[in-house]
Amino acid sequence: MSDLKKIKEEFTQKLREKLNLSEINEIKSNLFGKNGLISSQFKKIGSIHENEKKKFASDLNIVKIELQDLINNKIKKIQNLEINEKLEKEKIDITLPERSFVRGKIHPVSQTIDKISSIFSEIGFSVEEGPDVENEYNNFTALNTPDNHPARDMHDTFYLDEKKERLLRTHTSPVQIRTMLKDKPPFKIIAPGRTYRSDSDQTHSPMFHQVEGLHIDKDVNMGHLKGCLNYFIKEFFEVKKIKIRFRPSHFPFTEPSAEVDIGYEIKDGKIVIGEGDKWLEILGCGMVHPNVLKNVKVDLAKFQGYAFGIGIDRLAMLKYGINDLRAFFDCDYRWLNHFGFDPLDVPTNYRGLSR
Ligand code: DAH
Repeated sequence: MSDLKKIKEEFTQKLREKLNLSEINEIKSNLFGKNGLISSQFKKIGSIHENEKKKFASDLNIVKIELQDLINNKIKKIQNLEINEKLEKEKIDITLPERSFVRGKIHPVSQTIDKISSIFSEIGFSVEEGPDVENEYNNFTALNTPDNHPARDMHDTFYLDEKKERLLRTHTSPVQIRTMLKDKPPFKIIAPGRTYRSDSDQTHSPMFHQVEGLHIDKDVNMGHLKGCLNYFIKEFFEVKKIKIRFRPSHFPFTEPSAEVDIGYEIKDGKIVIGEGDKWLEILGCGMVHPNVLKNVKVDLAKFQGYAFGIGIDRLAMLKYGINDLRAFFDCDYRWLNHFGFDPLDVPTNYRGLSR
């Protein structure tokens, strides 16, 4: 038997056996590698007698092609098998129920802060922030409320040290001080955020929210304050007309000072904002006291302005028909699911409080 025939028979036989990919590759290199059996036969062609050369070369080519086909088919089979095995193993069961998908909700207080910020930004106010932990000076003294001032007692302050130098801010008014100390006038800012007082019942919580407003410029007067608050209240409650009352009051950091009430009535057990003969207090305001401006080195001969402080939680309760303030802070997901807002509805022109 010729060498070629022997090679053909031996390897055809071998390739019928069950082989893995590396065994096939070994056979491949034994046959077609640099010194492989088939490659060596090709090298022999040159030394073969002219009469037999053509036939030898043709037989050799046929055997080469046959063995190559056998090898290639075998490899394909193994690869198909692997793919099928993988498909079988990694099969996705499309009949399984989908995983439950929980979408978060925006808390009504956050929604209210976003809404307030976007309304004031329309008339040129920018948003400032201050820390919850304040010093006594910014929270009281700089705001014309010295040590022995009776207004201090009304605030039920949470002090953080025995010397009463550090405290949880009792209002957002210290952000006025921080803003005026940091920059030069004019100022036109609002400052929403958390505030704290030791008080708790259906309408008071030890942590609550306020938004401070401050507008200082060359000729800002009480008329501007009224116009600004009138615009804000109408926009916030989304009504064309609203009854608003400025009632004389007292705050150490404003002179004159006023509290603002809005008109309302109860219809079918529900509160209706805007009309009616009942009054509801929603904010405090006034012209910034000269002593405050002196404390932050604003030139009294050139600048003056107004400030206001609004209770955010009460506004949220009124707007969204929530009647127990404590529910805001209970962290009950069922409640949040009911009263919360879709995240995609948040106004885009407000950069948000960092929390
Ligand atoms: N800080 C006051 C409070 O918490 C509210 C307030 C009243 C703020 C008058 C002001 C203001 O800026 O002018 O009761």
